[in-house]
Amino acid sequence: MTTPTTTTATTTATAPAGAASPQTPPASAPLIRLCDYAPPAFLVDRVDLEIDFAEQGAIVSATLALRRNPQSSDTSAPLLLDGAELETLSLALDGVELPPARHRLTADSLTITDLPDACTLTTRVRIQPDSNTHLSGLYRSADGYFTQCEAQGFRRITWFPDRPDVMARFTVTLHAERERLPVLLANGNPVGSGDEAPAMPGGAARHWARWQDPFPKPSYLFAVVAARLDVLRDEFLTASGRRVQLAIYVEPGKLDQCGHAMAALKQAMRWDEQRFGLECDLDHYMIVAVGDFNMGAMENKGLNIFNTKYVLARPDLATDHDYEGIDRVVAHEYFHNWTGNRVTCRDWFQLSLKEGLTVFRDQEFGADVHQPSVARIREVRTLRAAQFPEDAGPMRHPVRPSAYVEINNFYTATVYEKGAEVVRMIHTLLGEDAFRAGMDLYFARHDGQAVTCEDFVSAMADASNVDLAQFMRWYERAGTPRLVARGQHDPVTQRYTLTLTQLPPAPVAGEAESSTAAAADAPTPLHIPVTLGLLGADGADLPLRLAGEDAGASAPTTRTLSLTATTQKFVFEGITATPAPSLLRNFSAPVRLDLPASDDELALRMAHDSDAFNRWEAGQQLASRLILGAAARLSALPANADESVAAREVAANEWPESFANAAARILDAVIDGTSADPAFAAEALALPSEATLAEEMTVVDPDALFAARMGLRRFLGTRLSERLHTLYDALAPSGSYLPTSADAGRRALRHLCLDLIAAADAEAGCALAARQFAAADNMSDQYAALVLLAHHGGAAAEQALADFHARWRHEALALDKWLLAQATSRRPDTLAVVRRLLAHADFDLRNPNKVYALLRGFGANHVRFHAADGAGYRFLAEQTLALDAINPQVAARLARCFDRWRRFDAGRQAQARAALERLAAHAGLSRDVAEIVSRALG
Ligand code: TRP
Ligand code: ZN
Repeated sequence: MTTPTTTTATTTATAPAGAASPQTPPASAPLIRLCDYAPPAFLVDRVDLEIDFAEQGAIVSATLALRRNPQSSDTSAPLLLDGAELETLSLALDGVELPPARHRLTADSLTITDLPDACTLTTRVRIQPDSNTHLSGLYRSADGYFTQCEAQGFRRITWFPDRPDVMARFTVTLHAERERLPVLLANGNPVGSGDEAPAMPGGAARHWARWQDPFPKPSYLFAVVAARLDVLRDEFLTASGRRVQLAIYVEPGKLDQCGHAMAALKQAMRWDEQRFGLECDLDHYMIVAVGDFNMGAMENKGLNIFNTKYVLARPDLATDHDYEGIDRVVAHEYFHNWTGNRVTCRDWFQLSLKEGLTVFRDQEFGADVHQPSVARIREVRTLRAAQFPEDAGPMRHPVRPSAYVEINNFYTATVYEKGAEVVRMIHTLLGEDAFRAGMDLYFARHDGQAVTCEDFVSAMADASNVDLAQFMRWYERAGTPRLVARGQHDPVTQRYTLTLTQLPPAPVAGEAESSTAAAADAPTPLHIPVTLGLLGADGADLPLRLAGEDAGASAPTTRTLSLTATTQKFVFEGITATPAPSLLRNFSAPVRLDLPASDDELALRMAHDSDAFNRWEAGQQLASRLILGAAARLSALPANADESVAAREVAANEWPESFANAAARILDAVIDGTSADPAFAAEALALPSEATLAEEMTVVDPDALFAARMGLRRFLGTRLSERLHTLYDALAPSGSYLPTSADAGRRALRHLCLDLIAAADAEAGCALAARQFAAADNMSDQYAALVLLAHHGGAAAEQALADFHARWRHEALALDKWLLAQATSRRPDTLAVVRRLLAHADFDLRNPNKVYALLRGFGANHVRFHAADGAGYRFLAEQTLALDAINPQVAARLARCFDRWRRFDAGRQAQARAALERLAAHAGLSRDVAEIVSRALG
């Protein structure tokens, strides 16, 4: 799962300590290319691993049963093993010490020549998990030792062909002190445990445990845990009647925060049986929560390891958003057991094979257990705020990248979210039944294999008889395509002709015309599913009959067209008056739509489109148009020394009353009960984010954008004041907190009302927020109030922040919220506050969740990060550098805040460039950060 947007942590005293290891200089980092893929010379059938948690580091002994790969073309090729930061103690082949002449050992490789076709290699290494601050491989966190092996962490544990096309059966034995590390876990089934003698006479009592995984797996799915943890147990009876033992392990004392994750797990297990006929294949399914974790969670076979953020929840500690995140991530990792683990990736270029498909599956799960249209709206919001900018910037890459320097940099919105859109388009083109047949065929063909994106698409095509050869281009093409739509109505023939044209993505600023852009000059067309409807003057759907179709048959009102040429015309018959087209219903393809529509037409669709997504979309378009127009006018005003652009105001009379009226109708429908969907209303009234709007500007003026967006909120708050107060009161909590989607929807709308009230009348809004903060019996209400207060500042904000900190100072996840609320505050002094918080005892650069909250939170604070004086840029570059010495993966994610720097004015560009160049010039930069920075500057 992608990185958490907010965040858990250990205290300074318990977090992993120690110096960072020497890093590969960027100059020597090679580009890895998909076209260079070659099968491994050797396969590993079995691995016997012993890990001894000793006084000085951990001793890892590995015995590999090796066999020459019949698929490899070179029958005398040496064995190549990967390693990183391993202290090699001994090497033996078939029980005999390996002579120096037979092997070559470097810092990151072990090459062994002249091997027989089958042999056994035994290696012994020492590693230092206590000083592993990268959180990749085996590392220490507050409660013990944990692993993270995807993508290439297993090589930090032992010598191994650390690539996903080598799948082995693992037996793992762990040895540790019983008191200090009472819980010893690995993948698969427990097959033995017991006491053992102390390391030294009179030393601490020790124990051991052995685990066996019956399924062959790639090394990236390996996991062990040796820690002091509490456990919540449960059981799941599969459809075929097998019992699966479930367990969730957490920091001691936190069992009361595991119930929701357990319920989500069981719900996901049932759902996968019902929707995809996929059962759990294990006797034991364990989830372990850890406070120091680079990403959201990891699908290790039978032993998922999770960021605490996606496990722990209690009404007073977790927001509705957190609860939903837990549902989605628990399901995501569980779904990987089939899409990722049983069928895995041949190489890391195929990452979206498992991630895009699994995100699609967790999205479908979310849609089934919550409201589908609201779920879809949120997915598209994320896609537009994160993936569209990525796809138009220096890190743009196809869903299946063709080259990388550091694979960890490619766990991106494109691979995950756009990858899910690609799978969703296949689903749209095939329909549910054929899609399911395609999934069944995919598993029938490839269970137990490491495969490619072609294998997935072939199974879908073969099971459905739909030709997906052209569709395959979605995996290879970077950038967001543009879809131009023009309609023409002929009253005489009563025909409506819709002309659809696909255009390549707009060229990227600063990108050399010759390289990647060249391919975009005359690209072959994509296969784009365009789901559409046509609205009559009253807003009702018209029957859609294409020219040539049987006039007698009843025509559908929504249908999906396949656009496969650059330009295609679609003629609809029996259309008496000019209709309003509703295109890309449910967002049927990840493209930018260019369809001229008057404000009135958008208002009609906003009120009446039978497709909920497009009702929302029409409102967003109208809002974007207004905000961008106002921002352009503010930008064009002459500079004024006394007044910053961000503080400028848009006069209320510049906003059209029709927009307020449309918003009023949405609120009225909730007030009078005609719409039972407050969650939809909240989405419909939430304006597009600055990051999304900025993509539409030729030169981004963040101050004008901020002022314009605030201006529209103030206008809505003023015009709708009475309704907002009515709803704020009517939606007040009635019973005790439940994280159901119905209740969460009511809270979301209530919080939106409060925001708009405060936008128009800060005093009244803050008074309500302070009351809400004090009265809240749940984190959703409390946190919403805290964020609002932090935006406005003043005594009430200081008080709320102090109260919040005092109450939650022992809850790491709540402290992350406390940091995030301050980092994302729109107040002009936010950078100074963030700098001060860096030195706070509750901040820790070694904890990713803290970094995501405070530093990436600030980087996402559009108007403050992009301050004209460049202070935001200097700050984030400085922090990226400091963090790079500790955790390169997380540092590289932080560096991504710079992605869009070329879209701003010359002054800001100069500041950002200087900050990036200073970073790039730093010797010893990690490969991770070097790749991001060089792409940004390139
Ligand atoms: N496979 C994980 C997921 O999507 C992602 C992941 C977890 C990851 N931890 C990681 C990727 C560390 C790279 C590095 O569920
Ligand atoms: Zn995943």
